[in-house]
Amino acid sequence: MKVLVTGGLGFIGSHTVVELLEENNDVIIVDNLYNSKIEVLGKLETISGNSIKFYQYDLLDKEKLDEIFAENEIDSVIHFAGYKAVGESVREPLMYYTNNLISTLNLLEVMKKYNVKKIVFSSSATVYGEQESPKYVETMKRGETASPYGTTKAMIEKMLEDLYASDNSWNITILRYFNPVGAHKSGLIGEEPNGIPNNLMPYVMKVAAGKLEQLSIFGNDYPTPDGTGVRDYIHVVDLAKGHVKALQNSPDGLNVYNLGSGKGVSVLELVTTFERVNELKVNYKIVDRRPGDLPEYYADPTKALKELDWKTEKTLEDICKDTWNYQKNNI
Ligand code: WQD
Repeated sequence: MKVLVTGGLGFIGSHTVVELLEENNDVIIVDNLYNSKIEVLGKLETISGNSIKFYQYDLLDKEKLDEIFAENEIDSVIHFAGYKAVGESVREPLMYYTNNLISTLNLLEVMKKYNVKKIVFSSSATVYGEQESPKYVETMKRGETASPYGTTKAMIEKMLEDLYASDNSWNITILRYFNPVGAHKSGLIGEEPNGIPNNLMPYVMKVAAGKLEQLSIFGNDYPTPDGTGVRDYIHVVDLAKGHVKALQNSPDGLNVYNLGSGKGVSVLELVTTFERVNELKVNYKIVDRRPGDLPEYYADPTKALKELDWKTEKTLEDICKDTWNYQKNNI
C-alpha cells in the first residue's frame, strides 16, 4: 500500500514509518520540520534499508499538499502532523487551532479531491477528559479537554465523524494514544522534544543524563497506591505497530480505538524502574500537583485486540531500557 505519513519525521511518525516499511508498504513523508529534524530521514533509511520519498511542506499550504497527491498514487494517509505541547497550547491557543485544524481540513479536502478516502488519525486519550472510571473505553463520550491542544484533537474527531456521516465511503480510523514513551532498539530514533520537556519520561531521561538538574514529581497526595499520578505508558514501537494493524485490519466505516497497555503505572514506579534497569539514580523532589492533572487513567485495550488483532508486547522495563539507550546514543 502507498501510504502518506504526515509528520513522519516526528517521534511517533518516524517509528510508524519503520514499521510500515517493515511490512513492505510504500511510504511518502511530508513534514514541515517544526518539531522534528531532517537528520531523522537518513536514520529511517539506515534502519529500513529503503530510500524514502520526502516533502518538506507545511499542510497549511494547500497547493503544496495538492502537488503531493497529484504526483503520487496515494492509497491511504496516516495523519500525525500537528502541534502537541500542552503547555504551549495554553499560551498560544490561536496558533494551535489554526495549525491543527486548518492543516487537517486542507488534508481532508485534498484527499477528497483525489478520492483518497482511507485515513488513520492520531488522536489522544486526552479527549476523554475526566470520566466516572479511570479505565477509559471507547464507548465513553468525549469529556472536557484540559487544554487547547486536547480540544483540537476532540474537534478533529468531531470533524471526521461529520465527514463520515456525509459520505460513508470514507474509511476513518481514530487512534487514541495513552502515554507514548520509549525508543527504537537501534537508539537511532527517539523522543526529542523542543526545549524543556513537559512530559515525564523525556524529563527523567535528561535528568539521568545530567542535562537537567532535578525531576519535580507533581504531587504525591493523589488517591493512588503511592500517591503519585498513574498513567498508561505505551512503548512507541507498540504504538507504531498499532497503526500498521489499523491500516491492515480496521473494519469499513469510522472506528475509534484506544492504544494503550491497559496497565496503570505511577510516576514513582516509572522512576524507580528506570533507575533499576539502567543502574543509575534519578535526582527528584516531590512538589505540588500540576494544575489540570488527573490522578489516574489508563486504557481498556480490549477493542483493539478484538478488531485489529493488536496489543502491546513491550514492558515497562523495555521502555526504560530503550529510552536510556537512545539518550546514551544521542548525548
Ligand atoms: C505523566 C505523569 C504528571 C512531568 C500528556 C498530554 C497527553 C499526551 C501525553 C499527547 C503525570 C507527572 C510529569 C514532570 C511529573 N500527549 N509528571 N513531573 O499529562 O499524562 O499527558 O502527555 O497526546 O495529551 O496531556 O503526561 O508525561 O506530562 O505526565 O511528575 O516533570 O507524570 O503529573 O502524573 P500526561 P505527562
